[in-house]
Amino acid sequence: VTRVTAEEFRVWSQYVQGICGLTLDDSKGYLIEHRLGPLLAETGAASFSELYFKAKAEVGSKLRRRIIDAITTRETSFFRDTSPFELLRHKLIPEIVDVKTRLGRRPIPIRIWSAACSSGQEIYSVAIVLKEVLGDLSAYNIQLIGTDISDEAVAKASYGVYAALEIDRGLAADKTGRYFLPYNGGFKLRDDLRALASFRTMNLLEAFPPMQKFDVILCRNVAIYFSEPDKKRLFERLGGMLEPQGSLIVGSTESLTGLCPQLEAKRHLRSVYYQVAARQAAGIRS
Ligand SMILES: C[S@@+](CC[C@H](N)C(=O)[O-])C[C@H]1O[C@@H](n2cnc3c(N)ncnc32)[C@H](O)[C@@H]1O
Repeated sequence: VTRVTAEEFRVWSQYVQGICGLTLDDSKGYLIEHRLGPLLAETGAASFSELYFKAKAEVGSKLRRRIIDAITTRETSFFRDTSPFELLRHKLIPEIVDVKTRLGRRPIPIRIWSAACSSGQEIYSVAIVLKEVLGDLSAYNIQLIGTDISDEAVAKASYGVYAALEIDRGLAADKTGRYFLPYNGGFKLRDDLRALASFRTMNLLEAFPPMQKFDVILCRNVAIYFSEPDKKRLFERLGGMLEPQGSLIVGSTESLTGLCPQLEAKRHLRSVYYQVAARQAAGIRS
């Protein structure tokens, strides 16, 4: 293994934070060695400094994108933590449909964003819940958007193919049989569900591209890697992307309390989610 020196670690942790927001404290030298080590061989760099200079000097962004693929933690699973999907099933989706039906919107638009979607399990779990709650989807205009900073993650998410092990994590056999087809020793999500979602690469710390607002945003298990100011700014901007009465769902270990006063915590059974506080929504500045 090529070791990272203290000076290299300092340079790399700054660089990594700059390209994807990931903050590495001093105990994380192994992470650079372990995750970026293979790129040394791949690029012919003899040390981590040389790899850094190659990345800084490159024309285009090919190496930078490989570094992002290598350094990000993309751990995810279908129906991860269960309760957010129960929240969607029993409360948020029925309420969205109810409000929009009363507004006379036809077909009923439903927009849900998985910000930091990794390989797609999160947004496809949402697709399965929508199918199960709504049944025939022809009366709805469903737009599921998955974004992630990693090209590899987005490519895999768009493909919608998972190994048996990935399926086993979170999906009961009856769901697998109903929503997936056997494919090359793994499983492929049914086309009608896959077609509900579209994916693109996006760095959450950069300005969002123009998008319509969302009924639900899931931003789970990504801001845990960011600095406090980055975290705060991200959640504030996500709040600005919510439809009136839209909901933001964060990871089970995350909380916005004390971080974003404009987002108000709501509770449903074991779940917490956030909505833009009423006085903010009404445009009243406090
Ligand atoms: C641990 S996964 C979480 C996936 C899913 N949301 C979940 O909770 O299971 C974190 C994801 O965030 C992505 N990510 C990291 N930094 C990001 C950034 N600055 N912008 C967008 N996505 C980022 C990673 O590529 C990774 O796929």
